[in-house]
Amino acid sequence: MAKFSVFRYDPDNGAIPRFQDYELPDVKGMTVLEGLFYILEELDSTLAFRCSCREAVCGSCAMHINGKYTLACKTQISKLQQPVTVRPLAHLPIIKDLVVDLTQFWENYKAIKPYLIPAEKPPEKEYLQSPEQRKKLDPHIDCILCAACYGSCPVSNGDPNYLGPHALLKALRFVEDSRDGAKHERLAIVAKDIGVFRCHTIFNCQKVCPRDLDPTGAISKLKIKILVEKMPFLKFLDK
Ligand code: FES
Repeated sequence: MAKFSVFRYDPDNGAIPRFQDYELPDVKGMTVLEGLFYILEELDSTLAFRCSCREAVCGSCAMHINGKYTLACKTQISKLQQPVTVRPLAHLPIIKDLVVDLTQFWENYKAIKPYLIPAEKPPEKEYLQSPEQRKKLDPHIDCILCAACYGSCPVSNGDPNYLGPHALLKALRFVEDSRDGAKHERLAIVAKDIGVFRCHTIFNCQKVCPRDLDPTGAISKLKIKILVEKMPFLKFLDK
């Protein structure tokens, strides 16, 4: 028997937030997401949560499970202490139960212009990139925008306008892309008072990333690039 304690809240019905307990059958290999589906289909059809791919690709099932922001579809119940306590991502308005309103998260993401801005007229056929140029993107490109880093970041908690680890990691992904022509524009965006210099280097985002990416390291790299723009003699720091 697996025990779940799940956060329940519906702002529309005026009831106060609470935790509800459920008992599920023990099924080998069952994930937390499958547990939530069992609750929805067999025990309580009013439970709300978000998911799509069920294989750690879409990023929509990020939540707070036993004290850690992670993906419900990637977390096996057998690896967790019981009761398994499930809450929504923090400091985002709750729409219902485990479903949060991600509007601010996406607004911050849009602010860094998350698309290639070519320097010149696009080539007739395709952009070419050497294996070395492409390799520079590897540490950042796998972000699935699940918001686990955003939920875990105390700076985002204090100031929703802070761009956040997800947006800053993506900003570096474009700054380091040899096909992009908007490096100065992007660095100017992340150098603003809602950008990289608000990061307190707490490493929460790095600890929780389900793809093992390093938003804290990306933010530090952006800080160096901004300094080098102002003081080119520091170029040796930008590796
Ligand atoms: S459902 Fe897509 S990442 Fe979990």
